[in-house]
Amino acid sequence: MSQKISIRIDGELIHANSDQSILEAAHAHGKFIPSLCHMKGLTAVGACRLCIVEVAGVGRLLPACTTPVQDGMSVTTQSDKLRRYRKITLELLFAERNHVCAVCVSNGHCELQDLAQKLGVTSIRFPYTYPKVPVDLTHKKFTLDQNRCILCTRCVRVCTEVEGAHVWDVAGRGVGSRMVCELNRSWGESRYCTSCGKCVQSCPTGALAEKGFAVEEMTKRTEPISRLTDLRGANV
Ligand code: SF4
Ligand code: SF4
Ligand code: FES
Repeated sequence: MSQKISIRIDGELIHANSDQSILEAAHAHGKFIPSLCHMKGLTAVGACRLCIVEVAGVGRLLPACTTPVQDGMSVTTQSDKLRRYRKITLELLFAERNHVCAVCVSNGHCELQDLAQKLGVTSIRFPYTYPKVPVDLTHKKFTLDQNRCILCTRCVRVCTEVEGAHVWDVAGRGVGSRMVCELNRSWGESRYCTSCGKCVQSCPTGALAEKGFAVEEMTKRTEPISRLTDLRGANV
């Protein structure tokens, strides 16, 4: 059973529920911790590592989204060390795929781009890998461009946990990981996709988009995932 506990976040004493993660407790008090794979309403998986925080007495950095709060815990969310690591993580995300913002449907409405700007990423210090990755245009309404995918798995989780279709999975390992539709079918041949659009709306970048939008035109809906139930009747 959830209990009220007290923790400190950046020195400030706050009350939290014992079943919350550090990220949830921070958000409940209006505190910003960068995140990309987290989405309210979906299981936390700790995939992107942008939400790392320092916890007093713990010798390593912990992901705020998958670390439960504990009574008396003292959490640091902003420090030079954290800023350095978060910038490296973002730079690696850019280096691992082909994020050409200038020609992206989500330019100006992209969580990866927003975070990079917010955290002061002005150049990439790692060599770009320029991977050859697939683009799937076979679905009648939507597109998947893996050049822009950050492997956050929001699409996997929303399709499985909210829509109940489980169309998406991640195949491969490390930098070779790719999104796959139903054991490697093209999306247009999917047997289980209901065309609900939840994966598209949950995608933080332009990797999943609706057809018919040009550069900068694709905006994602921002209401809580539990309310993304009427997408079939919306503009998708
Ligand atoms: S449109 Fe809906 S059912 Fe189809 S893959 Fe996306 S979330 Fe799953
Ligand atoms: S397609 Fe989008 S939502 Fe799915 S893993 Fe890639 S970036 Fe995340
Ligand atoms: S938001 Fe915590 S690891 Fe991605």
